[in-house]
Amino acid sequence: MPQGFGPEGLDTYLERASGGDHRLAAAARALCAIAAAGVELSRVVGLGRLGGELGASLGRTNIDGDVQKELDVRANELFVDAFRQAPVAAAVSEEMKEPLVLDPTAPIAVAMDPLDGSSNIDTNVSIGTIFSILPALAGAGGAEAHFLQPGRQQIAAGFVIYGPQTSIVFAFGCVDTQIFTLDQRDGKFYQALAAPGITRECTEYAINASNHRHWEPPLRAFIDDCEQGVEGPLKRDFNMRWTGSLVADAYRIIMRGGVFLYPGDERPGYGQGRLRLLYEANPVALIIERAGGSATDCLRPILDIVPPSIHAKVPLVFGSSDCVALIARYHSDPQFSDRAPLFGKRGLMRQ
Ligand code: F6P
Ligand code: MN
Repeated sequence: MPQGFGPEGLDTYLERASGGDHRLAAAARALCAIAAAGVELSRVVGLGRLGGELGASLGRTNIDGDVQKELDVRANELFVDAFRQAPVAAAVSEEMKEPLVLDPTAPIAVAMDPLDGSSNIDTNVSIGTIFSILPALAGAGGAEAHFLQPGRQQIAAGFVIYGPQTSIVFAFGCVDTQIFTLDQRDGKFYQALAAPGITRECTEYAINASNHRHWEPPLRAFIDDCEQGVEGPLKRDFNMRWTGSLVADAYRIIMRGGVFLYPGDERPGYGQGRLRLLYEANPVALIIERAGGSATDCLRPILDIVPPSIHAKVPLVFGSSDCVALIARYHSDPQFSDRAPLFGKRGLMRQ
């Protein structure tokens, strides 16, 4: 894409947006390094089976008990190398048990999910890399301390999505969410959509409905009411979409609204859901809020939660703000808090 005519390139945009602030300049360097590694990973993903068995299981699990795939490990190495090219004090990754100390004098720390949606590697469905850039804390007692800040402190965050288009979706400084798309002809990212706005209302939800029997009553009541469509208390028909890749569901919601839910449920190990606060919920929450949507743990804003540990999980609901608020009302309404005799017969909208 010739400079000066078409949309702005990522490097130029970030240099302008950092406006001489030294921490933002460091975040810009990290973002450029992430984008460059994203170009490389996009090439590998695009080769599919021609590049080997990327979805092959390595026969071991990561810290969360997910089976590690060949591509999980390659992506982790690629992005750790990228952070070595930028002023990054420490990195946390879904694929590493402990934080990795890089340059202790550097002003930022990065948390990442190097390969989100890895169950979709072999299925040719979009997958991604999620990242969260935090200010490094001076005098932090151990590398972990940098990461135990609420998501509201993020300087920049977002994800690279490898799909029909490879794009980087991010929030940087206090600017609205941006989408830059990779031009495969010259290997560079260009601005594709500035400040996308998520509709307040929604008629589309994303949830792994196979867990229905494990859900808590408020969540079950909400989904049951959605399923009843125009005949039910919510008085409108809903559509359902579930890709199994958080990045793909988040991208769709930014483009056309909707709500995503991964609640806590009664399965062992799922009390706080499946998704990780530091490198899944926080970055998604930031770009969703900066696009006019909301993100909660069913009740509280995700960005206000102080992480209890670096790999902590959190229930996650995000998307169109009216819908997220409605789900919070189901959760705070006492009629759904226990299995009262009337449960299932009453609904939030039909008292
Ligand atoms: O990284 C976790 C993840 O793969 C997300 O990308 C996705 O939203 C979710 O887990 C899928 O969960 P489940 O296995 O319940 O479909
Ligand atoms: Mn993930």
